Amino acid sequence: MSIVYLNGHYLPMEDAKISPMDRGFLFGDGIYEVVPAYGVRMVGFRPHIERMQNGLAAIGIALDWNEQRWRELCEQLIERNGSGDLGIYLHVSRGADNKRYHAYPEGIEPTVFGFTFEIPPSPVADKSSTKTYTVTTTEDLRWKRCNIKSTALLGNVIHFNQSYDGGNNETILYNAAGELTEASACNVYVVKDGKIVTPETDHQILPGITRLLLLKILRADGSLAIQERPVTLAELRDADEVWISSSTKEIAPVVRVDGERVGDGTVGDTWLAAQSLFSAHKYEY
Ligand code: PDD
Repeated sequence: MSIVYLNGHYLPMEDAKISPMDRGFLFGDGIYEVVPAYGVRMVGFRPHIERMQNGLAAIGIALDWNEQRWRELCEQLIERNGSGDLGIYLHVSRGADNKRYHAYPEGIEPTVFGFTFEIPPSPVADKSSTKTYTVTTTEDLRWKRCNIKSTALLGNVIHFNQSYDGGNNETILYNAAGELTEASACNVYVVKDGKIVTPETDHQILPGITRLLLLKILRADGSLAIQERPVTLAELRDADEVWISSSTKEIAPVVRVDGERVGDGTVGDTWLAAQSLFSAHKYEY
């Protein structure tokens, strides 16, 4: 039975109740995180919490929790759910008011919720056993604050289902200028002639923690070239390799884009080198 945290209490999932007047429920007015943990080891804990604090500040939710308090919550959730390979979902909404009114209410307490869910085992850098992905593309029709990890995910959900409904795994998004932004729940990378490029972080994309760690790891190692710059849809179509990344899948190879093979349609050598380095160094940040 899954044990969750809600507003100061640990309790079975089915006993966790929130008010229907919670602004997370009514407006999607909240911030969330997903922190991966393998056994008792979390990946990127500190940058995940920093990103959440930034998101809370950006939307004016005052929650007096420091990094240590979040760490204790995560450690408790891991322990109470038997460790294993877990995604730790953390969620702070603005809280429940007694009316539905757009203005930020005074004097309500944020709702803090956390639960764990199973994720695949720590990915292994192995060409034959890694899961491969097929994606489709579409214009990014979400809002202009995609750097905020908001619980209001309808845009992402609609985009995800555009590929999922056709039997694919993800939807890669591009803006009106034909430049890639990200995928509906992942960041995106294109590899050509051994050089890796990924869109820069701005208001159009979530600054992914897996992306952040990958950049740090590759730059510290120095054997693979990675550049942050605008990446066009044409480059995606002409790529030798395409990857997507997120906390629950690390660096994932894409073998088809809109039904067309990427490169020769198999997992590439640059992916192998990058995921190997990621696996070796992911706990260092
Ligand atoms: N999604 N971009 C979007 C839109 C995302 O939702 C995510 C993560 C990422 C990758 O970020 P990170 O490397 O920090 O996981 C990029 C999470 C896992 C989710 O919504 O479940």
